Amino acid sequence: MNLFQRKSVADLQSEVQTDQSLKRALGPLNLTALGIGAVIGAGIFVLTGQAAAKYAGPAIVFSFLLAGAACAFAGLCYAEFSAMIPISGSAYTYGYATLGEFVAWVIGWDLILEYMFAASTVAVGWSGYVVSFLKDLGITFPAAFTSAPFNHATPPGAGWNIWRLFTHGWTSTGAVLNVPAMVIVAVITVLLVMGIKESANFNNVIVAVKLAVILAFIAVGVGYIRHANWQPFVPPSLGPGKFGWGGVLRGAGVIFFAYIGFDAVSTAAQEARNAQRDMPIGILCSLAICTILYIAVSLVLTGIISYTKLNVPDPMAVGIDSLGHSVAWLRPLIKIGAIAGLSSVILVMMLGQPRIFYTMSRDGLLPPIFSAVHPRFRTPWLATILTGATATLIAGLFPIGLLGELVSIGTLLAFAIVCIGVFVLRFTDPDIQRPFRTPVFWLVSPLGALCCFWLMYGLPPDTWARLIVWMLIGLSVYFLYGRHHSKVQRRARASSSPAPAARA
Ligand code: ALA
Repeated sequence: MNLFQRKSVADLQSEVQTDQSLKRALGPLNLTALGIGAVIGAGIFVLTGQAAAKYAGPAIVFSFLLAGAACAFAGLCYAEFSAMIPISGSAYTYGYATLGEFVAWVIGWDLILEYMFAASTVAVGWSGYVVSFLKDLGITFPAAFTSAPFNHATPPGAGWNIWRLFTHGWTSTGAVLNVPAMVIVAVITVLLVMGIKESANFNNVIVAVKLAVILAFIAVGVGYIRHANWQPFVPPSLGPGKFGWGGVLRGAGVIFFAYIGFDAVSTAAQEARNAQRDMPIGILCSLAICTILYIAVSLVLTGIISYTKLNVPDPMAVGIDSLGHSVAWLRPLIKIGAIAGLSSVILVMMLGQPRIFYTMSRDGLLPPIFSAVHPRFRTPWLATILTGATATLIAGLFPIGLLGELVSIGTLLAFAIVCIGVFVLRFTDPDIQRPFRTPVFWLVSPLGALCCFWLMYGLPPDTWARLIVWMLIGLSVYFLYGRHHSKVQRRARASSSPAPAARA
């Protein structure tokens, strides 16, 4: 058995032609909105202020530029792949076509960290904003039901002892469950089962709300910028990763989370009306729009209030508060925008995960239940419900910091493999038709992979420990189930075994 058996791009392309079970309903606007829906969320509404206050000061703008550059390299590689192989498996399928089944499995398993865990992470952020918004209206929830029952801190002296990092350092918070986080994941699961078009329409509406709120923040805030708040723009270093250029780099690692999601567009490839043209448009336009907005928001935010005051869960609302009563009307709107923003991130992430399961199951690497399509709604409904149930549980039980770092490391690994894949395929299959070509691929793809590995390297050892344990579980599933049921392996065995006549 060849663990590195590849799936040919020609086979994949013919699969796209023949598999019409998912409904092709999305155009370029829907796809761009899906990208923006997935990208703008907890990163800009929560992390910007914290990263400015703790690591970079006003120079958080440079952190956004740096992380944006890494994502742009990966985005170009995703655009090439998604136009060439428009199939809902995204990076998993690209891995299958370039580096073989084993690497494909590793990416597929790893993408669960990106999509399913991101949905849970953002649901926890959503819960925080909703609870705070309702509190402003005089409605309070019992604290025991609005946060995770567990917390985790790096156990002292654990060093790189993976087992100790994984099993020690857990504490009980006294809370029971994060109920609002569980409710939002459950509601979105129902919506996703009901149909791609319905989900995309809902997403369009909430994307419009969050964009309007962000643009209002920029338009109002720009008139209140005080240049003194930008002095010095790069605050002097206070130690490794604390301000100075080291802080800008650390800030880029943290802020990377804000960009995650543009790649989720590629999981809707089999539901796009004209994937070859519209996939690159959806991926690259959403990434460009979000980068511009992020830079504008971070300039305005650090211009209207001193960055030292931004280490709060709702930095944009705090920034507006500092401007006095005349703009107080914007505060509740910011919270509504954040709640809308976070909802659409959950939606798109939860849309992506079942579609990856769907493709892995069609390849035989997961049981057939994951590729069951609902006869009426034409969505991968059982995979959606399974994803929803698991994400609901995770959202109820774990804290946001732990989940967020896991999402970042998982996503970075997937991005790096996609960048390497584009490079490899240019040499192994140079003649395949590529509707979109990554410009200067010999520079862009290695740089993309290097940036991703470098950002991974900056993440703490406990996150690495969780990644390794997660991957070990994944390898067990592959060796116990996937490799025995793989259709690619079966085809390879059939074509290599001699025909009966030859045997005789
Ligand atoms: N980029 C997404 C967010 O910031 C995951 O919420």
